Amino acid sequence: MKTVLLNPGPVTLSSRVREAMLGPDLCHREPEFAALQDKIRRQLLEIHALDPMQWAAILLTGSGTAAVEAMVTSLVPLDGRLLVIENGVYGERISNIARRHGIAAERVEHPWLARLDLARIEAVLRDSAPFSHVAVVHHETTSGRLNDLEQLAALCATHGAGLLLDAVSSFGAEEIDFSGWPLTAMAATANKCLHGVPGTAFVIARRDALATAGEAYRTVYLDLQAYLRNQDQQGTPFTQSVQTFYALSAALDELEEEGGWEARRDLYRSRMSRVRRHLLTLGISPLLEEGESSCVLNAFHLPQGLSYPALHDELKAKGFIIYAGQSALAQQIFRISTMGDLNEPDLDRLCAAFDGIMQKESLPR
Ligand SMILES: Cc1ncc(COP(=O)(O)O)c(C=O)c1O
Repeated sequence: MKTVLLNPGPVTLSSRVREAMLGPDLCHREPEFAALQDKIRRQLLEIHALDPMQWAAILLTGSGTAAVEAMVTSLVPLDGRLLVIENGVYGERISNIARRHGIAAERVEHPWLARLDLARIEAVLRDSAPFSHVAVVHHETTSGRLNDLEQLAALCATHGAGLLLDAVSSFGAEEIDFSGWPLTAMAATANKCLHGVPGTAFVIARRDALATAGEAYRTVYLDLQAYLRNQDQQGTPFTQSVQTFYALSAALDELEEEGGWEARRDLYRSRMSRVRRHLLTLGISPLLEEGESSCVLNAFHLPQGLSYPALHDELKAKGFIIYAGQSALAQQIFRISTMGDLNEPDLDRLCAAFDGIMQKESLPR
């Protein structure tokens, strides 16, 4: 039986991406690898039609957190100050990264289900010593909330702070306004909306920001300046995950052929609205309004009397992997992502699986 991953990455792979990993054995110091790396870097910029003279895509071997940590540690200068906006696990992780590296940081904390409190953020930006950067999560996967960055970006512009964006679970399927927002950089990964495999993560950064970040060399492995220098000269400072690069290259070709990030957003939206509608008919309600949720993942209240482990195991037996809520939310919600190589029959089977589970639940025990 086919198992469909509905967790927020890794995703169900297309056969093309899976087979790409069987490409020839390749040394990362050979010109064939350099060509592969150049192609991926170029295609990542092309997703949002970015000018390679202004922007650089920098490839790392690691998961999404590696890219976020590289972005924060390489781009906040030694004398910089970071304001971290938190409304979930991944915003809190950015604060943790800043703390571990001794970066001067303040936080604006929110409850995990809350939308950004722009008045409070504005007050902090206005009343504190200037911040060089503001870090925020685009799609907070904790709740499925797509943070409204339009106004936050405007506040950053007014207060002269560059935006560091965790776009790990949004890049490739949600809008990122590279020309309108004061973005310094964003971090993402191969194995979510791009449909590659885990192992390659990347940062897209303004070239001038990297050039002026000074000697913010807080780590050896995650030093984006070193990666950029090497990758611009067709090299790499460390061994890269070659097979993962093959997969990402194939996944980027697929994204391009399928119409780019906007087509992917539309596809995810149509999948998610189908799932939301069906679950509502079964009395399973979403955690957030449709307009507040990303197209990538939605959270739902657990049906009365059904624990997450029971729901998970029943769905797993029918070929679907869903995702638990984190910490206290584990008792309250489950999450479904729309990423990966899914098709209409998969969604039919998913709806039927929920029908079966809810019918069983309604029988007297
Ligand atoms: C928004 C966001 N940031 C960061 C991460 C961390 O990514 P990884 O688990 O690949 O390190 C995730 C993972 O789901 C995420 O959703």
